Amino acid sequence: MSRKKIIAGNWKMNVKPSETAALIKAVAEATAEYGDKVEIVCCTPAIDVPAAVDAAAGTKVGVGTENCHWKESGAYTGEISTGMIVDAGCHYVITGHSERRQYFGETDETVNLRTRAAIAAGLTVMMCIGETLEERDAGKLEEVIVRQMNVGLKDVTAADCAKLVIAYEPVWAIGTGRTATPDQAQEVHALIRATLAKLVGEETAQTVRIQYGGSMKPGNAAELLAKPDIDGGLIGGAALKAADFAGIIAAAANA
Ligand code: 13P
Repeated sequence: MSRKKIIAGNWKMNVKPSETAALIKAVAEATAEYGDKVEIVCCTPAIDVPAAVDAAAGTKVGVGTENCHWKESGAYTGEISTGMIVDAGCHYVITGHSERRQYFGETDETVNLRTRAAIAAGLTVMMCIGETLEERDAGKLEEVIVRQMNVGLKDVTAADCAKLVIAYEPVWAIGTGRTATPDQAQEVHALIRATLAKLVGEETAQTVRIQYGGSMKPGNAAELLAKPDIDGGLIGGAALKAADFAGIIAAAANA
């Protein structure tokens, strides 16, 4: 089973609209040779999207947002709908990031609503899951991952999985410089694929890409991406420097 590697940047609340075109262009230039082998994505703050889409036109870099709401429109101050995201020229969206869960009250249930809305809109959705250090230390890793999968993917069908990517981001590895070892990551990725198989069938589970996220850098990407169930990366800090992001994409192209 060959799954095309997908490397996505999550810019978080960094990069101003006026800085966006330069970063997208630098990424496109530095990664042009890998665009056929690796799916390359930059998920930007919503306000950066017009500049990002414009700068990415004609390149192999896809653009996405960092969240979406599940309603098509209405009185939801501060939210953006999947229809708006598509209309702005994006093909990707992140749901369920741990920072949304930690700081903005996101639950497995709202992650499910957002994920289903994104799939219904034709976006490729990168649904994030991952345990905290307390949960891991308490021996609850499997319980947490299985719950986040079961609730997050409720009513997501095998056919929907064509638009689904799962991002495994151990919360303790995000922005901390502390990466899961390749073996630790592979163990959880295998659990995620096995859980997915129970939900949508083994054949479909084999087609779904599972990204690792959490302090991924050019220096550790190759050994992570060499693991059988690690199909890409969701990159925070290192996605803000074109050379670092390109280094990770080069590792994915050679994996
Ligand atoms: P870092 O790569 O900065 O650890 O962030 C990972 C992340 O949260 C990507 O969504």
